[in-house]
Amino acid sequence: MKTLKDIDFKNKTALIRVDFNVPLDENGNVGDTTRIEAAKPTIIKILEDGGNVVLMSHLGRPENKEAKFSLEQIVKPVSEVLGVETRFVNDCVGEKVENAAKNLKKGEILLLENLRYYKEETKGDEKFAESLSKLGDVYVNDAFGTAHRAHASTTIIAKFFEEKCFGFLLQKEIDSLNKVLSSAEKPVTAILGGAKVSSKITVIENILDKVDHLIIGGGMAFTFIKARGGKVGDSLVEEDKQELALEILKKAEEKGVQIHLPVDSVIADSFSEKAMTNISETNNIPEGWMGLDAGPKTIESFSEVISKSKIILWNGPVGVFEMEPFSNGTIKIGEVIGRATENGAFSLVGGGDSVSAVKQFKLEDQMSYVSTGGGAMLEMLEGKSLPGIKAIEND
Ligand code: 3PG
Ligand code: MG
Repeated sequence: MKTLKDIDFKNKTALIRVDFNVPLDENGNVGDTTRIEAAKPTIIKILEDGGNVVLMSHLGRPENKEAKFSLEQIVKPVSEVLGVETRFVNDCVGEKVENAAKNLKKGEILLLENLRYYKEETKGDEKFAESLSKLGDVYVNDAFGTAHRAHASTTIIAKFFEEKCFGFLLQKEIDSLNKVLSSAEKPVTAILGGAKVSSKITVIENILDKVDHLIIGGGMAFTFIKARGGKVGDSLVEEDKQELALEILKKAEEKGVQIHLPVDSVIADSFSEKAMTNISETNNIPEGWMGLDAGPKTIESFSEVISKSKIILWNGPVGVFEMEPFSNGTIKIGEVIGRATENGAFSLVGGGDSVSAVKQFKLEDQMSYVSTGGGAMLEMLEGKSLPGIKAIEND
C-alpha cells in the first residue's frame, strides 16, 4: 500500500475526498473551519509536488439540490484557510466538470458541488463512482469523518484507480487510534461519558480488552449505580440496560480492568440552568433530584487515575456541560487530561460531544490529538473496520 509521501504528484491531478461537512449558520457562514484546516497538509503537499487538486465532499444530508447545502457557500473560507485560490464548479460529474478539472492550471484547486445532490452517492452506485473517477489521476481519501460510510466517493471509487492512498489526516486518525488501542505503554485509561449506556455498549465491550482503567461518567453512570442497588433519584437511567451494566462490571473484573464510577454528583431539582442545585453521594440521590455533573470527590478520584495514565482516551462529557452550572466536571477532567499530556501522556479526544466540549473550553491545544470524526471514531472504537479505510488498505 502506498502512502501519500510515496507518490510524486508532479503533473498529476489528485482527486481528494475531503470531509468539508462543516457547520453553517443561517447566512451560510462557516462556524468552525477545523475540518478544512485538517485537510490542508494533504492539499499543500500535492500542490508543492506540482500537482493539481480536485476536492469533493458532501455537506449535510440534502433531500434534493437544496441551495442551503451548496458547497459554493464555503469557497471563500476554503480559499482563505488553504491560502490558495479555489475555483468552484456547480456539479460533481459530467462533461462540464471533467473540462473544469482538465483546464486547471498548475497549483490550482477545484471544489466540486455537493456529492449528495446525487442519490447515487449514498447508495454507493458504481456508475456514479466511475464518473467521479474521471476527474483525477490519483485518488486520495482524507475524509475520516465519512470513512464509516460505504458511499460512492468514499469507498466504491477506489477500485477505479491504480494509484490511491490515504491523506495525511486520515492516516493520522488511524495512527492515533492505534496508539490507544494497541499500546505497549501502560496504564491505558478510557473515560467514557455521555447520556446513554446503550450507545456505548459495543465500545465498552471492545475496549475492555485494551484498557487498564475505565472511567464511566455522565448520564450513563446512573444505570450502573442503580444496577448495583444505589438510589439515583430522578437521574437518567436506562432501566432495561441494568442487567447489561452488571455484566459489563463482571467482565471488567474478569479481565482485570478497574472501573471507576462517580461517588458524588452535582444534583438539580430540574433539568434546567435555573434549577436548585446541591451535592449528593451518587448512590443516594433523593427523589425529585437528578445528577447532572460530577461532584468534587468524583473529580478528585477520576483525576488521580488520569494523572497516572500514559495513554488516555476521552469519549463523552462527564456532565451536562452545555449548561453552565453543570460544566465544571467536564472542564476539570479536560484540564487534568491536559496536564497529563504535558507530562508525557498521549491523549486522544473523539466523539462529537467531547470534541465540542474541548473546543468550547479552549482545551484543544492541550490534547495530543482531537479527532475530526464523530460516528467514524465510535465505529473504530467498536472494533469495526471502516469501509473507506478498507477500500484502500485491501488493494
Ligand atoms: C459527520 O459530520 O458526521 C460526517 O461528515 C458524516 O456525515 P453523515 O453522518 O451525514 O454521513
Ligand atoms: Mg453524523
